[in-house]
Amino acid sequence: MKKQIAIIKGDGIGPEVINQSIKVLNAIGARFDHQFKFVPVDMGACAIDKYGVPITDNDLEICAQSDAVLLGAIGDPKYDNNPSAKVRPEQGLLKLRKDLGLYCNIRPIVTYDSIVDNSPLKNHLLNKIDFVIYRELIGGIYFGEKTLNKEQTEASDLCSYSVEQIEQITHKAFKAAEIRRGKLTLVDKANVLETSRLWRKEVTRIAKQYPKVELDFLFVDNAAMQIIQQPKSFDVILTENMFGDILSDLASVITGSIGMLPSSSIGNTNGLFEPIHGSYPQAKGLDIANPNATILAVAMMLEYFEMFTEAGVIRKAVAWAMDQNIVSRDISTQSPTSCSVIGDLIANHIESFDSSTINKKNMEESKGVLI
Ligand code: IPM
Ligand code: MG
Repeated sequence: MKKQIAIIKGDGIGPEVINQSIKVLNAIGARFDHQFKFVPVDMGACAIDKYGVPITDNDLEICAQSDAVLLGAIGDPKYDNNPSAKVRPEQGLLKLRKDLGLYCNIRPIVTYDSIVDNSPLKNHLLNKIDFVIYRELIGGIYFGEKTLNKEQTEASDLCSYSVEQIEQITHKAFKAAEIRRGKLTLVDKANVLETSRLWRKEVTRIAKQYPKVELDFLFVDNAAMQIIQQPKSFDVILTENMFGDILSDLASVITGSIGMLPSSSIGNTNGLFEPIHGSYPQAKGLDIANPNATILAVAMMLEYFEMFTEAGVIRKAVAWAMDQNIVSRDISTQSPTSCSVIGDLIANHIESFDSSTINKKNMEESKGVLI
């Protein structure tokens, strides 16, 4: 198969983690005889430095023309700490999501046995957490009208949703629940917000088309508590944009490392794949970042291309590396492996079919670069 992938390395550790996922894609290409064409795109603080805008129209067009977009991370402290900055790296991502119509953000939350001790939660709560957040991504308060009065003393952000916006992601979430454990939880604030009441009404109506899925509701404040106290009780969480943003960060830390979690943003004609974590500017250039979230984002991208065997091979290779204790500093401070060596070992594992020979040799050779 031939696929064109727009590659956004972005800021901070973005380039380092993307470089590892490119190694993995090349290994998959070699093993399964696929041709992946990578087209670089600038987005984020690096694009502002180069062009004065967080993403150019030309680069947006490249993304739209590609089969998928793979993103490292964007963001830079010089913008985070300056609320009056008119141009910000995040605007690039929001524009890309909106222009490509990526309404469905999927964030799977799973634990790996070997890192449960890294979680801030007690072990008994963690065993085999496996749920997924379906976050609406191009509506709600993020994209509603924004105002600031002349005196700059009053501001507002409008939260609005249409039935169509609710419908399209709701079907995707129900379909996911059907092939998972058959449970969907709508998270909202229907005791206060009109938009939430519309969500409840629509989701309840659509639920009739999915009789095998059990639907329940949680207010967002309660959901935040339940994700901590009973994470195993969730299967599919469906929610609007802002609640999904907050809950997905909350959920990601309970797994033990945000560096392990990928996400995808799907529209009707395109998909964007990225790690959940941010640009981690303090680690930029140090080769210490965890590349697994981005490598697993590649697995999600291949599933989107319906290359299920290939995606499975990537997931197994990541699990193999974890089992071998080939992990970055966020997981093991005592014997961490560098970002680039993890990428090499996982890519070799994928390409070699049989891990036992080549990888052991590689491990030895790469010891010099272990940090
Ligand atoms: C995310 C991020 C973005 C968001 C930022 C970078 C605009 O936090 O993908 O969760 O708020 O959606
Ligand atoms: Mg977020």
